[in-house]
Amino acid sequence: MPRRKKMKIEEAKAGGERPRGQLKYPRLRGMKDILFDEYKYWDLVYKKATELARVYGFKRIETPILERLELYERATGKSTDIVSKEMYSFVDKNGEKVALRPEATPGLVRTYIEHGMLNLPQPVKMFWLGPVFRHDKPQAGRYRQFNQFDLEIFGDATPIADVILILVAYNFFRELQIAVQIQINSIGCKECREQYIEKLLNFYKERGKRAKLCYDCKKRLVKNPLRLLDCKEEVCIKLREDAPQIVDSLCDSCRDHFIKVLEYLDELEIPYNLNPYLVRGLDYYNRTVFEVWPVEEDGEKSRENRAQSALGGGGRYDNLMEYMGGRETPACGFGLGIERTVLLIREKNIPLKKDDEDYIFIAQLGEQARRKAMNLFEEMRRSGFKVRQLFTKDSLKAQLEEADRVGAKYSLILGQKELMDGTILLRDMESGIQEVIDYKKINADMEKRLSEKNKQTKNGENSV
Ligand code: HAM
Repeated sequence: MPRRKKMKIEEAKAGGERPRGQLKYPRLRGMKDILFDEYKYWDLVYKKATELARVYGFKRIETPILERLELYERATGKSTDIVSKEMYSFVDKNGEKVALRPEATPGLVRTYIEHGMLNLPQPVKMFWLGPVFRHDKPQAGRYRQFNQFDLEIFGDATPIADVILILVAYNFFRELQIAVQIQINSIGCKECREQYIEKLLNFYKERGKRAKLCYDCKKRLVKNPLRLLDCKEEVCIKLREDAPQIVDSLCDSCRDHFIKVLEYLDELEIPYNLNPYLVRGLDYYNRTVFEVWPVEEDGEKSRENRAQSALGGGGRYDNLMEYMGGRETPACGFGLGIERTVLLIREKNIPLKKDDEDYIFIAQLGEQARRKAMNLFEEMRRSGFKVRQLFTKDSLKAQLEEADRVGAKYSLILGQKELMDGTILLRDMESGIQEVIDYKKINADMEKRLSEKNKQTKNGENSV
């Protein structure tokens, strides 16, 4: 058996996973199951995303996973990798060409037009969380189904809108204790970009540079010259070093817009890197484009191809709404990858705050006690207590082990004797001390104890 394959099987076994080759119905390549232990990180990331989006005035929106293929061909761009190589598209039973969404923005632009959001007070600020699909080559942090947190601002042409997006992105990672740097550039408007592209083409015409370009870049020279700048091939990286920079070709209004964005970022002390090679791989952008890159602990570029592991990216797209059949509306937005975020939190071992919910475990012994305990559980749940149970088990030992596992602060144990006496046994799960309390006074007693216990509890530091 080849060594790599053997190693993969060993790795899978070590992680408790059955090697894919042994399974009759393994999951598809590039797709991911999120199991119990990982889910707490997802909860945390979703909570942070939702909280920040709301603080900055964004409202949540949801769109269908399936849309017309044309939507992406037009909005994302037919010549982009996403549409030309990576889209999951098919013909449905009515003969309609449809696609699993490869990104959120086109669907959100569609909703703005379809639901007449132009008539709402502007700007319209929306946020979106959900899965997207790209048939890319799977590797660490790159999946075929992945989730994005996406924010869009429609109807605001000011540089402040760009800055708000960058601010949310920056705060999101900072508050999850992930060090990031913003990579930023301006690709101008149609007019200044046209002039720049001419300069760029002239540059590549000089002294046989064109012949040295990689196969893809030779094609880009004709189809999409801007993308020569973010090619990952070494020879193309070397060639571009002396290429003219687009910021030197911006018209007055684009330059003014970009300077204001940078001034605000300075003011807010958001670390950024002016990256003249950042052009983004989607067709709709103009003016500000940006990406969020993780910063390595050693501050160096130890991670290969950091753009490939970008945590997020976005920019302005002032012409898309009109291009999609709507009224002219300035817009900007960004999307960030949830899987990559979770991966970093886990890789860096950033501790999670302990679940400090005040769980009360209700245990029972005997059939009659079980019936009463089940009612007690419902009553306490309705009164707002965080109750937990394991009514399917008879053994008290198994029930108290479960109480420990969920981190219950107290267990209430109901047995035959307590049933007769109108009492219940209360066990402090930390000290193991048990005492008998009056069944009728359970709620008042528990409220008092929990509030006293909370006064003594402190949350862990340096955790998220
Ligand atoms: P994007 O740069 O294509 O932009 O994707 C945004 C983020 O999604 C990336 O920075 C990365 O974190 C994550 N991502 C992309 N591909 C994968 C993958 N195969 N596996 C895991 N994560 C991935 C957009 O999608 C634009 N719609 C963003 C935007 C919104 N621009 C304006 N508004």
